[in-house]
Amino acid sequence: MLNIQPIKDEFGAEIGGVDLSQPVSAETYQKIDDAFSRYGVLVFRDQDLTPAQLSDFSKHFGPLHVHHLAENTYSDHPEVRVLSNVKKKGRYIGQYRGGHYWHADLIFCELIGRATILHGVECPPEGGDTLVCDMRGAFEAMPQDMKDKLDGKVAHHDHAYRYNILYPERPPLTPEQAAKVPPVDHPMVCFHPQSGRKSILLTVPTIRTLGDLNEEDTETLMKEVEAFCTQPQFVYAHKWRKGDVVMWDNLCTMHSATPFDEKYDRIINRTQTVYEVRPQAA
Ligand code: SIN
Repeated sequence: MLNIQPIKDEFGAEIGGVDLSQPVSAETYQKIDDAFSRYGVLVFRDQDLTPAQLSDFSKHFGPLHVHHLAENTYSDHPEVRVLSNVKKKGRYIGQYRGGHYWHADLIFCELIGRATILHGVECPPEGGDTLVCDMRGAFEAMPQDMKDKLDGKVAHHDHAYRYNILYPERPPLTPEQAAKVPPVDHPMVCFHPQSGRKSILLTVPTIRTLGDLNEEDTETLMKEVEAFCTQPQFVYAHKWRKGDVVMWDNLCTMHSATPFDEKYDRIINRTQTVYEVRPQAA
């Protein structure tokens, strides 16, 4: 029987009593989806999943997304990406050192990420935690003057703007790659449709301007908001064990990867689903 154990009051839950490699009933999927909407982050332990099984599970949480860079994927499952520090024949077998900053996936696209789902295939015994923060809880706890600077404002997201600063080790986006992710506007404070709560759509490096603020003032304000939202009371730090499945909703969370000792192998399989409609202002 499905067992849902909240991690913080209304943020994060560990789900037991389900083997995701086996067929899961529609009723159980509905309960998992309800918990996902309520808690924003779900953790499942001891799941032994092939890329195909991870993909099958993931597709219940929205249309599966094939990343615009389409690298480090399984040839028979382009929707499953590998994150890893492991090298074979001198080449990394997955994306190396991605996401070491606070962000929400695909926030720079018209249809932002819904579920990001990670499966731990090999995990270091220490370090490499994934941090996830609660953007609904943070907004609700925010001082009114900070809320007033965000509510009703439009953020202009531009993925290419700081790409080379974020990823100095990668080649710059080609014109074809950049064309796949043109700039997009989203409400800064959005309505989380499944819970009816307000949330903040934030990723500091992709927000170029907010409302009529210039780039410099936007960056200053966005960093203040990020510092508020990532205080420990809003953050869940996932300590990985082999077989963990962790999923978060990008409309109401941000996340960040953290470093680990590179003597350890880390292999994570990752899928991404998207919302079917654009974020709506709260
Ligand atoms: C990610 O940003 O999706 C990666 C998180 C991690 O590797 O811990």
